[in-house]
Amino acid sequence: MRILVATSEVYPFSKTGGLADAVGALSKALAKAGHQVGIVTPLYRGIRERFPKMQKADWRFDLPLGPKRVGAELWTLAAAERLTIYFVQQPGYFDRVGLYGERGADYDDNGERFIYFDKCVANLARYLPWRPEVLHVHDWHTGLVPMLVSHQVRADGWLKPPRLCLTIHNLAYQGCFPRSHFALTNLPGNLFTPDTAEFYGQLNCLKAGIAGADVITTVSPRYAREITTQELGAGLDGLLRQRQNALVGILNGVDYEEWNTVGNPHLAASYSAADLTGKAECKRTLQAEFALVINSDVPVFGCVTRLADQKGMDLALEALDEMLTAEMQFVLLGSGAAECERAFQELAQRFPGQVGVRLGYDQSLAHRIEAGSDFYLMPSRFEPCGLNQMYSLRYGTVPIVRRTGGLDDTIVDAVENLAAANGIKFSDCSAQALARAMRKALALYQEPELLIQYRQNGMAAEFSWDQVVKQYLAVYRKP
Ligand code: ADP
Ligand code: GLC
Repeated sequence: MRILVATSEVYPFSKTGGLADAVGALSKALAKAGHQVGIVTPLYRGIRERFPKMQKADWRFDLPLGPKRVGAELWTLAAAERLTIYFVQQPGYFDRVGLYGERGADYDDNGERFIYFDKCVANLARYLPWRPEVLHVHDWHTGLVPMLVSHQVRADGWLKPPRLCLTIHNLAYQGCFPRSHFALTNLPGNLFTPDTAEFYGQLNCLKAGIAGADVITTVSPRYAREITTQELGAGLDGLLRQRQNALVGILNGVDYEEWNTVGNPHLAASYSAADLTGKAECKRTLQAEFALVINSDVPVFGCVTRLADQKGMDLALEALDEMLTAEMQFVLLGSGAAECERAFQELAQRFPGQVGVRLGYDQSLAHRIEAGSDFYLMPSRFEPCGLNQMYSLRYGTVPIVRRTGGLDDTIVDAVENLAAANGIKFSDCSAQALARAMRKALALYQEPELLIQYRQNGMAAEFSWDQVVKQYLAVYRKP
């Protein structure tokens, strides 16, 4: 098949979260399976310097954006066999410090930036010489693409458009802007209706995508069910129920070339399920890196996360306050909400040698935390899929997760199946429930044989993208 993927971030070029990992790995796996794949994404600051092999294409966008016209250039990079990356170069919009904002605040022209990007996507999909059969868009940033395409089909003579697939990685981010932004699409005003892009008087980009895509996927089966309920539907559950026949939950995979414990340049030592000795070395290195007391008998709880409400780190703070009286250590790598950052810094100051906090974004440290921790905390309020708990499994680190979304689909608790257990789950969205789960972890730590069984079960779990690709292909072909 010939597939054009459109995304606001993709690893290893740009990344703020799991979206980049998922889109990068899916595209790579599709190409590996023999399909022709292109990824169109913005050219953010610094990418060209890091990937000097990219070339300027013989292509210029010159597109209307409301009353003005905006130009952009296109750069391409052959990333792998059958995989080409198309970078939209529009320095005014994308040559900035952040992807979506700076110092905790979104850029105030994000609507304009991504409406423009979506127009470039539709233009590329229409005129690329290799004629994509599928156009796969991701999250709100590319949500307007289906509407732009179908309008060109109806009113502008686009004869054989690609099939449109939208993947929802997170329903909480919908890209809502004042209705005046709709004019930037240059679509007829009568298309702005509650059946399409209008949401309580505003422009809602994700809603437009849900209404307009041929097929919709989300990143775990449980989340696919959850988003059709009022509780987790973020105001779009009604529309999602209407589109239920087109909606499929496909669990993300893991790129095991990137996330593995053998020959990983980020780790102090290699280890495997058969021989976990290297993991102890990774733990010592981690304790040293965070200036914790170096002691293999003390369990380390780790966490790498965006500090956003979704992730439930306020519950973790409260639970830790109680739990840190026990023999345990905690390390966090995260960035996000300023007050949450401050609270964790204070926690580290109160518990020197026992709590280590690093604010910021650091891919290499993320690997070292996954490898050096004994347990991994993920108390999310909701979680479409979650990748870190799957990375933890592969690193022999036991995840402690809330029973929601993809966390429930990927982790096995002893209550469900003792022999296959690889993690600890809790249900209530409360600090008390999390603390109880952490106490279970401390008890598990006192039973070395059982703990090794948990680690080995986790390391044996297989979430490979090669399997996932088959499910996407079925969706692309879904009648
Ligand atoms: P989400 O996409 O909601 O943030 P996921 O669990 O799907 O959650 O993916 C998070 C990804 O982002 C993981 O690859 C994780 O390692 C990475 N990540 C999150 N915060 C940081 C950080 N501060 N530094 C490095 N990597 C981070
Ligand atoms: C989103 C979700 C996360 C998911 C990721 C990749 O960021 O919050 O749960 O794993 O997308 O699909």
